Amino acid sequence: MNEALRTEGLGKVWGGFAANTDIALRLAVGARHALIGPNGAGKTTFINLLSGALAPTSGEVYLGGERVTNLAQHARVKRGLTRTFQINTLFADLSVLESTVLAVCEQSGAARHFWRPVADHADEIARARALLETLGLSEDQDRPTASLPYGKQRLVEIALALATRPKILLLDEPAAGIPRLESRELFEVLARLPTDVTILLIEHDMELVFQFAERITVLVGGRILTEGTPAEIAADPKVREVYLGESDDG
Ligand SMILES: Nc1ncnc2c1ncn2[C@@H]1O[C@H](COP(=O)(O)OP(=O)(O)OP(=O)(O)O)[C@@H](O)[C@H]1O
Ligand SMILES: [Mg+2]
Repeated sequence: MNEALRTEGLGKVWGGFAANTDIALRLAVGARHALIGPNGAGKTTFINLLSGALAPTSGEVYLGGERVTNLAQHARVKRGLTRTFQINTLFADLSVLESTVLAVCEQSGAARHFWRPVADHADEIARARALLETLGLSEDQDRPTASLPYGKQRLVEIALALATRPKILLLDEPAAGIPRLESRELFEVLARLPTDVTILLIEHDMELVFQFAERITVLVGGRILTEGTPAEIAADPKVREVYLGESDDG
């Protein structure tokens, strides 16, 4: 398989507490992969180890076959690994288009020449508009980001992440805290993202996970319990016992 991302024996210990233990995960290029598990299972910790926000206690991270375990976050972003950022603090007062153009300029290097007339940035503006179109945000492009419903703010965060031209996008509960109807819309947009972008998603809503993911890894107590297709995961008695048994979706 054409490999986008791989971990080997990845672990994180705080004091005596093991938040992640011996995690081996492999994502093919273009994967739609979900990471699920109960609260405190270690999902966010794992994403932090991938992005470089946390240093692992043991194990390795590879991007496209290259070992990146000791690289800083920005160096991993440069190699195509991106996670979404909360925009509340960042670009809230700018319009959706302005924010996206800034992110595109940052990626293209045009940010260093930002004193140039706006017309010189026609390419960046065109790319920002195209991104917003992909995310269904064209009609909202002139509104301040902070004035949008939360579901759309999450889409702007994804637009800003896509502006970095990621190969791999990490999404930690993108639908958390937004109303059900908006989550469905958000996931419809995620389902339409170009398949050259590999996606690893954490999500608690099983209905959304099962619609979106082609493969699912179940994390329990910091360890991988099992991995499989949605059908395999849904039918797995171990999974039902520790996880799906808690809900009505299984
Ligand atoms: N900085 C830290 N220091 C010590 N323990 C931590 C730290 N960060 C997280 N933990 C612990 O590690 C465990 C895993 O946390 P993590 O946030 O990765 O779980 P999660 O699967 O993302 O949970 P949730 O579904 O609630 O988001 C938890 O028991 C948490 O309390
Ligand atoms: Mg979490």
